[in-house]
Amino acid sequence: MITKATVDRIMEATDIVEVIGEFVQLKKRGANYVGLSPFANERTPSFTVSPAKGIFKDFSSGLGGSAVTFLMEHEKFNYPEALKWLAKKYGIEVEELNDAPENREEENHRESLLIVTGYAAKFFQHSLLETEAGKSIAGSYFKERGFRDDTIKKFELGYSPDQWEAFTSSALKDGYQQEFLEETGLSVKRDNGTLYDRYRGRVMFPIHSFTGRVIAFGGRTLKSDKSVPKYVNSPESEIYHKSNVLYGLHFAKKAIRDEDNCYLVEGYADVISVHQSGIENVVASSGTSLTIEQIKLIGRLTKNITILYDGDAAGIKASLRGLDLILEEGLNVKVVLFPDGHDPDSYVRLLGSTGFKNYIEQNKKDFILYKTNLLLKEAGNDPIKKADVIRDIVESIAKIPDSIKASVFIRECSGLLQIEERSLNAELNKMRQAKQKKDHQQQQNKQQVEREAAPPVEEDELGLRLTNTQDETQEKEIVRLLVTYGSRIINWDGIANTYIGPFMIAELSDVEFEHPVCKSFIQIYHEEVEKGILPEELYYINHPDKQITDIAISVLLSQYTLSPNWYEMHKISTTDEEKDMKATILDAIFHLKLQKVGKILTNIRNQLKTSIIAEDQDILLSQYIHMKKVEKSITDYLGIVITK
Ligand code: UTP
Ligand code: MN
Repeated sequence: MITKATVDRIMEATDIVEVIGEFVQLKKRGANYVGLSPFANERTPSFTVSPAKGIFKDFSSGLGGSAVTFLMEHEKFNYPEALKWLAKKYGIEVEELNDAPENREEENHRESLLIVTGYAAKFFQHSLLETEAGKSIAGSYFKERGFRDDTIKKFELGYSPDQWEAFTSSALKDGYQQEFLEETGLSVKRDNGTLYDRYRGRVMFPIHSFTGRVIAFGGRTLKSDKSVPKYVNSPESEIYHKSNVLYGLHFAKKAIRDEDNCYLVEGYADVISVHQSGIENVVASSGTSLTIEQIKLIGRLTKNITILYDGDAAGIKASLRGLDLILEEGLNVKVVLFPDGHDPDSYVRLLGSTGFKNYIEQNKKDFILYKTNLLLKEAGNDPIKKADVIRDIVESIAKIPDSIKASVFIRECSGLLQIEERSLNAELNKMRQAKQKKDHQQQQNKQQVEREAAPPVEEDELGLRLTNTQDETQEKEIVRLLVTYGSRIINWDGIANTYIGPFMIAELSDVEFEHPVCKSFIQIYHEEVEKGILPEELYYINHPDKQITDIAISVLLSQYTLSPNWYEMHKISTTDEEKDMKATILDAIFHLKLQKVGKILTNIRNQLKTSIIAEDQDILLSQYIHMKKVEKSITDYLGIVITK
């Protein structure tokens, strides 16, 4: 742990304008500085930094906080990393307390591995730039590929000498421990216990972490001999988990944010060539299919991915399924194909930067439309195959979380597939419902497990069950009624017609919701009502807060899946519920109130037991009597008799 004194010193030295100024162009405006949000795409600057308060606020994304918060959000540092970054910037020595020795050891271990990979990068770089073999063999290879000197430096490219132990013996001589050389995969152990170099006679591409430290390598052979692997890559290690690393991300992150788009290519050379041409928002998944972690990594920077494919039809078809994962994360996917035999690397060199950009602009297609066309062409006139295509496409569309976006695709695909929009929508709804049911079931199972693991139900003197699940049921019932009937008008016994939602909200103004999601649901509903809006189903389903969407969907669904039980228990049917709307609503409101009153009474009783001051006892007693009256009026209404 970093000591409090160090943290204070860092905070004192930190100039928030200077820190944020390294990432965002700031202009002085009055007492503050403003700039374009680095977290959202905006045209008028809403990102504000207050040097006096030492805070920033981004009105586009809602993020705000100190310089440390900014670094954590922008650079994806954790707290100590952000502090250390500042300490380094302001030349402050970091004092750390020994916390749990195993944490520290783990931290030290990772750091040791990173020091070794950093050393190796320097070694390979030196060998490329300063040795005869490096200059002549690897240097001329890079030149031939069109990599400029500044590019080679930026990506820290290198060369591993064509010898068995050049790197290993240099590292051992410089005092690096054998175990770290092995763990990073830079050296390999022979049967007799000695080490040899994994990379020999290869050009080296260091792989950087998000924050720019070298964590692994890819080494490309210079031989055309087909019997040696073209690339040798570092094995997995504590610092290198292939599935959550994207090659080039460290150099691309700023441009990805600025351009609000990320180009995805296949190889190291593609990243470097495209980047060198001035298109810097480019990363590679390095020869494997894209993983969910990699998609999330991109998703934090932009919602737009453009995939640049080599022109190999079989490969493209194989990757189509994987792209559904990207849709599921709510990202927009476009694809660009290159003419046969070309990859982005060769094509950008052929066309130059402007020509390449134009080509992309003119040839990018939306993934779903592209997929539709491709599969349709394959299916030809075969009706069975065509039906499969339709299902396949709708399945992809069903993955898109934004239902408005999905309906746009339904419309466009309906044209392409020559099928009525209505039929596609029916299919889409079927798939959505199946998915929701599945999610809901999983949720139920999870809750079941949690319930079984929960401590036994507690009963207070009133015989009211005071468990959380009970609370939740009552509160959720209110949410369900609001979602289902909130925007309906109720005929209030001929006295007056009112909307159900605002009526319930007013009636519940004295009730504190406890279940966190129900609580924020009620709050949001309240705010909307104040604005004169009555939320409808679509409002919830497209709500940005996933919890709101989830609870709305789960209560909407519960009508069909859960409720038979509930209604059987209460001897009413769904139609009864709607027939006597007034009873349904008042029942739910008063049951919840009764439960809250019961809790308050228990609370007062407990206080009475421990209170020793006479006046306090008087106050508590009169509160108790008052609440008892409230309880009685509720139970009178509900027709429940409580003896005691
Ligand atoms: P490519 O074979 O397309 O290589 O593999 P490339 O990047 O275009 O390389 P050049 O242009 O021939 O130099 C694409 C990516 O797949 C991974 C590498 O990450 C490579 O960049 N790959 C390929 C391997 O990991 N091992 C291999 O043997 C081949
Ligand atoms: Mn290539």
